[in-house]
Amino acid sequence: MSRAELHTIARSLVEGGRGILAADESTGTIGKRLEKIGVNNSEENRRAYRELLFTAPGLGESISGVICYDETLRQRALDGRSFVEVMQQNRMVPGIKVDTGAKALAGSAQEKVTEGLDGLRERLQEYHALGARFAKWRAVIEIAADLPTDYCLSVNAHALARYAALCQENGLVPIVEPEVLMDGDHTIERCYAVTSRSLQFVFAELYAQRVDLSGMLLKPNMVISASACRTQAGAEDVARLSLQCLRTHVPSIVPGIVFLSGGQSDERATEHLSLMNRLAPAAPWKLSFSYGRALQAAALKAWQGKSDQIAAAQSALLRRARFNAMAARGQYEPALEAA
Ligand code: 13P
Repeated sequence: MSRAELHTIARSLVEGGRGILAADESTGTIGKRLEKIGVNNSEENRRAYRELLFTAPGLGESISGVICYDETLRQRALDGRSFVEVMQQNRMVPGIKVDTGAKALAGSAQEKVTEGLDGLRERLQEYHALGARFAKWRAVIEIAADLPTDYCLSVNAHALARYAALCQENGLVPIVEPEVLMDGDHTIERCYAVTSRSLQFVFAELYAQRVDLSGMLLKPNMVISASACRTQAGAEDVARLSLQCLRTHVPSIVPGIVFLSGGQSDERATEHLSLMNRLAPAAPWKLSFSYGRALQAAALKAWQGKSDQIAAAQSALLRRARFNAMAARGQYEPALEAA
């Protein structure tokens, strides 16, 4: 695939106010979500749940692409169509999570490094043949008194860049996700400093490893107070500091920045994105979303594993997807939630 084709895919994922649905929970993680609604973590229940998401009528008006887990990319809808076909017919590009998880980092008591580089070239070739056109790799950065170390930031950035270069070689747009977690009680200023340092390492490695910045998307955390911080920064501060941090580190040639929701409430994740687009209507990159929990939580709750609740679950998903697509254009107002 040519560089121009990669650029086109990357741009198409963030054009027109659309964003990405992250539905790539591993079998263990989706199991925890299903358990909360009293649903067994069987292959068939995982399949039924993902079918409900992907077949929501008109989802493609707000959602440009879906990140899947390996199992999901190979599954089919009850009518016999592969999920890949279902997504394509619903105007959504199939994507795939390719890392194999964050593992204990040797020599650091608490930190993690994301694995999955062994055999990655061959796996990407197979995913491309199955229909995937973009991929995701998530690095996890924790903030604590003496953390993160530069050692952790550096090895994670190195792995992200190796993954991104391999994706581009094999015709997939890499989503580069260095997530600074909201866990803890740190302030928004501390989140800013750590996010800033992490992005500095990430872009240095992307340059060094010859990644084409026009053919990738960045998936960062917002700059935000930790969930247990006593003085929670307001929405305007989250939007302003996130923009300032990204402007400092993300080259303007990158076509899009798609945020993760990271444990924010559904409404906050939407409001923060909308405010950013309102504050920076002429930002060099598109500012959109790649939410997991903030798109799916309401749908899971409505579904409860019941076939007669599928329509209700789909309308809960469509509602969040539409609100986030409005936010990607700077047009969402919290007052809409009451309607
Ligand atoms: P959340 O929006 O739930 O943080 O998930 C996005 C994601 O894909 C994390 O890797």
